[in-house]
Amino acid sequence: SKMVPTVFSYVPFMGNAIEFGKDPISFLKSCQAIYGDVFTFQLMNKKVTACLGPDGNQFVFNARQTHASAAAAYNDMTKYVFGKDIVFDTAHSIFMEQKRFIKAGLNVETFKKDVPLILEECDLFFDKFEKSGEIDAYHMFGALIINTASRALLGPEIRNALDDGVAQLYYDLDQGFRPINFMFPNLPLPAYRKRDEAREKLAVVYEKVIKNRRDNKEVHDDLLQSLMNSKYKDGSPVPDAQICGILTAALFGGQHTSSTTSAWASLELAHRPDIVKALREEMIEKLGSLQVDFTYENLDKLELLEDVVRETLRLHPPIFNMMRRVVNEDMLHEKSGLMIPQGNYICAAPGVTQIDATYFNEPMKWNPYRWSEKTDPVHQYEQGDDANIDYGFGAVGISSRSPFLPFGAGRHRCIGEKFGYLQLKAIIGTFVKKFDIEGTTPNVPKPDYTSMVVVPENSKIKFTRRV
Ligand code: HEM
Repeated sequence: SKMVPTVFSYVPFMGNAIEFGKDPISFLKSCQAIYGDVFTFQLMNKKVTACLGPDGNQFVFNARQTHASAAAAYNDMTKYVFGKDIVFDTAHSIFMEQKRFIKAGLNVETFKKDVPLILEECDLFFDKFEKSGEIDAYHMFGALIINTASRALLGPEIRNALDDGVAQLYYDLDQGFRPINFMFPNLPLPAYRKRDEAREKLAVVYEKVIKNRRDNKEVHDDLLQSLMNSKYKDGSPVPDAQICGILTAALFGGQHTSSTTSAWASLELAHRPDIVKALREEMIEKLGSLQVDFTYENLDKLELLEDVVRETLRLHPPIFNMMRRVVNEDMLHEKSGLMIPQGNYICAAPGVTQIDATYFNEPMKWNPYRWSEKTDPVHQYEQGDDANIDYGFGAVGISSRSPFLPFGAGRHRCIGEKFGYLQLKAIIGTFVKKFDIEGTTPNVPKPDYTSMVVVPENSKIKFTRRV
């Protein structure tokens, strides 16, 4: 077998990092035009083999864990933020059990009690707004979502502690979770020290809450409680220190992903008054009036609202590429017959297939209606034998060969998808009910790829409160 072609670079050491950093999607597409779906490029000291197209998605997401390791790709960075013995800092089979615990805590019963809590947080938040003004949508939704997610997932105690310094701890942790930390996970710098202190202080806060619930036999209906009640297969409970880390990981999993998605959705809607109107009409038609509060059940009926979220995740996926590291031995890419050396990273890029005209008609157009019309070729790819594999936390229900994978696929697929949709629908739906919105630029802004998730380069919008 042959070796994978390598993308040319003028700059030693930096390799293709500058081009990739500025606009990874265009970079990957231009390389694809020259080299095909499989090629290696250099990001500083890392060799990354891109595996594009639906076959690339399947190759990366379906790879054996002993060949292509997410832990070897991510743990250098995540262990300092989440802590020890969880997620990528433990055996793969243990992490799969931990994913099962989280998934079990995100069930229909908890979703039913989550919706009123999310709405209450939205009211508290939006009631402080002026009658009209201009606001940075990404930061605004970020500030709201830390409240809604911690209220729903972590419980009332931690939500109440947010204003007494816990929000600052999350902020400090977040400063250690940026692309620069992927290159240099640990340096003797103040930001890194703050990150480590924040992780330790958060653990103290969480442990107090856990102990308090245990001592007072207080039972809540949230992810924290669910983790306190979970048992590993060998019968052992989840140690408190692990509960703390899993809670932080879950909060981080949903925080920036959901903040950017709401920001992009509101920016797109700000340029599409017809869809805002259609969203309100749908609420009136399905719920009776705009005054009826959202519930878990009635949100399920709002299909256009759901398709607004789905279409935003297609055109603006917060995580457009996902990495694994080739471990133990070289890896054969069967479809092309190419060999990928051990030590390389392999990279799937659903963000590229999601804007490929082979799978989506007029792919650059934000068109929520495409999902109910179902005329895009993407639908031919969603089913596949691998959709029913259970990796230890239940089957994922979608083939890893699908061109539409904003939540990934296979053993590392997101378990927060349902909660993510629920929270996004409640928040965007509430925003559209309460405010009229307008863009501040003629077109929807371009993406900024230099952040951990793909954010709008300018997310200012104008709002006016509706009476
Ligand atoms: C995994 C996206 C919300 C927890 C993933 C992956 C993606 C993703 C792309 C796969 C990463 C990979 O294969 O390397 C998103 C998006 C969200 C979202 C777009 C919201 C719109 C959430 C929420 C939670 C969460 C709310 C927690 C409650 C996780 C976990 C994993 C994961 C635990 C598993 C990581 C692994 O197995 O390696 N997510 N996520 N996510 N996500 Fe999410």
